[in-house]
Amino acid sequence: MPRLLVLHHTVSPALHALAEAATQGASTDEVEAVEVVTRPALLAGAVDALEADGYVLGTPANIGYMSGALKHFFDQCYYPCLGATGNRPYALWVHGESDTAGAVRSVELVASALGWRRVHLPVSVVGAPQRSDLEAVRELAATVAATLALEMT
Ligand SMILES: Cc1cc2nc3c(=O)[nH]c(=O)nc-3n(C[C@H](O)[C@H](O)[C@H](O)COP(=O)(O)O)c2cc1C
Repeated sequence: MPRLLVLHHTVSPALHALAEAATQGASTDEVEAVEVVTRPALLAGAVDALEADGYVLGTPANIGYMSGALKHFFDQCYYPCLGATGNRPYALWVHGESDTAGAVRSVELVASALGWRRVHLPVSVVGAPQRSDLEAVRELAATVAATLALEMT
């Protein structure tokens, strides 16, 4: 059964709501036979990345970049994953207070260097997450799950 890793850095209620939405979307009843594993970015490492078949990434924007927690994850798993995880599907959501563009770009650069395949446009949420934002993150995560189900089962 393909495994979907939902990776997040959660330091506030807004981020918690978005991470919950990501896990809900990844586990949608509309997609069968995909195992969902949710991990805080600070507790995840190369084994988690290698053992997954696709990724849903979530991070706050921090000084125009991804969070240090997600960067730490990538620092740990970059070389083990390089050449071993190419073409795996992923999608990204970012939360910020004003401007998430730099954070989105920073993650996309690393994902692209690893050869990961973006299967949904990034979802950027600014300020308190609205119902539509939570739904957008659910839909994003469900898209990665559906991609795995279609391609691997
Ligand atoms: C050190 C620091 C840097 C931040 N940098 C950015 C930034 O570059 N762009 C942005 O939109 N938000 C930025 N933020 C806001 C965080 O993304 C935001 O606090 C986080 O997503 C949690 O949201 P909340 O505080 O509304 O719950 C920053 C916050 C901190 C603490």
